[in-house]
Amino acid sequence: ATAAVAPAAAQTFPSRPITMVVPFAPGGPTDIVARLVAERMSASLGQQVVVENVAGAAGTTGAARVSRAEPDGHTILMGPMSTMSFSPALYPNLAFNPLTDFEPVGIAASAPIMLVSAKKLPATTLAEFSAHLKANATTVNNGNAGVGSTSHLACTLLNQKLGVSPTLVPYRGTGPAIQDLVAGNVGYICDQVTSLMSQVQGGTITPLAVLAPTRSPVLPNVPTAKEAGMEGVDMVVWNAVFAPKGTPAPVVAALNAALRKAIDDPTARERFLQLGAEAPVEAQRTPEALRAVHAADVKKWGDVIREANIRIQ
Ligand code: MLT
Repeated sequence: ATAAVAPAAAQTFPSRPITMVVPFAPGGPTDIVARLVAERMSASLGQQVVVENVAGAAGTTGAARVSRAEPDGHTILMGPMSTMSFSPALYPNLAFNPLTDFEPVGIAASAPIMLVSAKKLPATTLAEFSAHLKANATTVNNGNAGVGSTSHLACTLLNQKLGVSPTLVPYRGTGPAIQDLVAGNVGYICDQVTSLMSQVQGGTITPLAVLAPTRSPVLPNVPTAKEAGMEGVDMVVWNAVFAPKGTPAPVVAALNAALRKAIDDPTARERFLQLGAEAPVEAQRTPEALRAVHAADVKKWGDVIREANIRIQ
């Protein structure tokens, strides 16, 4: 039998350092996940995987850049569920199609959203928070990573349930938003536990509720939204690797293999667990699994965004 001849690009991949674009600022969940896997993918690919933060427009600036990059595997995206699934419903002139302009590589990790408030707010439960917010709706502000980020959609759904419209303060990622939350310039945010854990453990911000169906194993005392009396605000967020459309299948396979090795690395696994993030189960690790999850989420969250009537101003 004759073996299929692989394209030359695939045989030599990677031939130089790989750029992994993070479409948000350092210190947020997308950045944390990217840095954890990039370091370990470098080791198994034999070339540096360099993380580059290309922030702006809720991740769509960085994702657009990767969609236009040479499809040879040397420019890839750590794409959050938000940028890749919410943007079509929100941005009428989106510069890329998240479903058709990329080759899915694989899911790196998922994590639940948590509602956290500044220490200065007199609230340690969702009920106290809700009462305080309703009484002070004009002075308590809500930080997020831009219209269409997970932090924006998650807290907007929550704000709608509470019947409040606080001033929204957009950042280039939740990394800088968390710093302002710690400093007390922001009242509250909704973000993946991944980037909140160290501040929660350090006692510098207050965890109020996990906006997901189950409690986080790293914060067993923090109730779910449902346990705290609120439904319809649950969100579990994935971060996944994408390559530009047309990247050869053997290159996608090499990236997928390196990603799997990275998330199976015992120190990475341990770190993810400490941060409350979860590696995908075996069946969810293939490019095809990501393709299916991604398509389902474009549909699901598009419907939520339209139903909640969320728009860019
Ligand atoms: C989001 O709100 O979508 C993310 O938290 C942004 C980030 O990774 O900083």
